[in-house]
Amino acid sequence: MFTLPELPYAPTALEPHMSANTFSFHYNKHHQAYVTNLNNLIKDTPLANMSLEEIIMDSAKDPSKQGIFNNAAQVWNHTFFWHSMKPNGGGAPKGKIGEKINADFGSYDAFKDAFKQAATTQFGSGWAWLVLEGDKLKVMKTGNADLPMAHKQKAILTLDVWEHAYYLDYQNRRPDFVTAFLEHLVNWEFAEANLG
Ligand SMILES: [Fe+2]
Repeated sequence: MFTLPELPYAPTALEPHMSANTFSFHYNKHHQAYVTNLNNLIKDTPLANMSLEEIIMDSAKDPSKQGIFNNAAQVWNHTFFWHSMKPNGGGAPKGKIGEKINADFGSYDAFKDAFKQAATTQFGSGWAWLVLEGDKLKVMKTGNADLPMAHKQKAILTLDVWEHAYYLDYQNRRPDFVTAFLEHLVNWEFAEANLG
């Protein structure tokens, strides 16, 4: 049985960039629904005893388990997304993660352009990611519930670009949402910790 993980901050903490109204739907309804669906799908099956990551990796390679993969990956993606943000976050990173971004992208601005491009051009529902591939940072995008661990990549940071993530606050203006995430919300300490 999986449960909805606690938010790492109050649902009002990211205002005005992400409203409490958005959290009441995105966290309490959407994220909760993925948890509930996953529990129903794995009940009384061998997957009921597996960790979330094991369920994701098991179902990723089995087309008959698409529904399980979608819900398990969306549980994982949303928890990772909440931790990818913090109040008064964003801007250029310092420390180890800042140095690695400069080394692998050339500059913070080049990273920002690549991330904006990925997040705004993901057609339909999906996610924009900063990942480690081997020992190099890379920006990528995935559709629907797909995620880096299914592609031998390590997630460092993510942005949810499903419409449910921004429609209440930004309507159709996804680029404004992406800019607010980069300038005010990114939790670079979390990203640095994920470098391992
Ligand atoms: Fe979402």
